[in-house]
Amino acid sequence: MKLSEAAQLVSLKLPSGTRTDRRLGRCRTIEDVRQAAKRRLPRSIFDYVDGGADEEQSLRNNVEAFGRYRYLPKALSDVRSPDISGTVLGRKTAAPLGFAPTGYTRMISPLGEPAVARAAAAAGIPYTLSTMASTSLENLASSPGVSTEDLWFQLYVWKDRALTMDLVRRAEQSGYRVLEVAVDTAVSGNRVRDARNGLTIPPALTLGSILDIGRKPNYWASMLASPVLEFANVSDGAGGGYTIENISRQFDPAVNWDDLERLRDAWPGKLVIKGPIGDVDAKRAQALGIDGVHLSNHGGRQLDRCVAPVDLVRSVRAAVGDGFGVLVDSGVRHGSDIATALALGADACFVGRPYLWGLVAGGQDGVEHVAELLLSQFRRTLQLLGMTSVDELREAGPGILLPPTA
Ligand SMILES: Cc1cc2nc3c(=O)[nH]c(=O)nc-3n(C[C@H](O)[C@H](O)[C@H](O)COP(=O)(O)O)c2cc1C
Repeated sequence: MKLSEAAQLVSLKLPSGTRTDRRLGRCRTIEDVRQAAKRRLPRSIFDYVDGGADEEQSLRNNVEAFGRYRYLPKALSDVRSPDISGTVLGRKTAAPLGFAPTGYTRMISPLGEPAVARAAAAAGIPYTLSTMASTSLENLASSPGVSTEDLWFQLYVWKDRALTMDLVRRAEQSGYRVLEVAVDTAVSGNRVRDARNGLTIPPALTLGSILDIGRKPNYWASMLASPVLEFANVSDGAGGGYTIENISRQFDPAVNWDDLERLRDAWPGKLVIKGPIGDVDAKRAQALGIDGVHLSNHGGRQLDRCVAPVDLVRSVRAAVGDGFGVLVDSGVRHGSDIATALALGADACFVGRPYLWGLVAGGQDGVEHVAELLLSQFRRTLQLLGMTSVDELREAGPGILLPPTA
């Protein structure tokens, strides 16, 4: 072959876009985004996000549980333009997806909660701010590009009930649409990786972290240049106050159904409980006037050897009937996981770690990239299943699934 002929076969593509665009362009799966985040974060911070409790059996099983279901598609439907919009607690969303609460996001990236909430607003899906956030609920609600219609607030019930009720009042005044009460955190889970890494929150400069500065200078430079990290919803405003140890001692192991009744009385909007909730507890919540359950084992960060939330969906839906919110998270890593959860009876899936990895990989664009990945995978799965819409998938129900094989 002559050189001129060979040259025609080679098309040399020069890199285009910013470095972030190129990095995100290489991320074709959520695992790619995770690896991109891993390369950019100090080990202890990566592990804080990535890790689970004790032997991490819940953590692994959450992902594996989705993969145990198998599809039986419907043949020969016209799926040219599938409608992937969803309805979550009475509100139309661009897709049956939301971002779950994750504490202390500014420790992971200085862009923090506002960048995630803006990405959620851009994608037309809800974002849940944690009690343990590093941005206060008032500041987030008034951030440009954030829509309060899609803002939820996740509450931990504190020993100090006056402080708890004050958080509820502040969330209402700031326009949050949904209050989500975590019921899986009577005590905090045993995160072995964090203990081994000597992670403190806020991060302290130890010999290890000083050595790490050499390895991840960009992370440390951005942290040192940003405002002091704090648990902004409960801080004294001067960067003082709570650390992860003393804050988690404020969670009340005595919290019970009476507290939930009081919260129901105090909160006029939609109220959801979040945890590994079975059919009996879901029915009890429904009887109390709660609007839905967010089935979650905290991404494997609390009770180890806990049932995978996706495996609870079918029996919970059967117990509560239609019209009651059933949301699920823990282990969603692909759009087909959303399809599985919806066929089982969920209204929507939520993700935690994936958007945090996206935030590290590419800021707000990285979070949007994660939403786009999950939703394009979901759209294709819907089409290959022969389903024209989320509603049709919900109606088809578990009939399009073969039960877990394990
Ligand atoms: C770093 C991190 C912090 C979290 N912080 C909270 C929190 O403050 N409140 C809460 O209810 N859940 C918290 N979660 C759990 C998430 O809301 C969600 O249930 C979990 O991440 C879903 O699993 P996934 O990460 O596999 O998607 C946290 C999860 C992670 C990864």
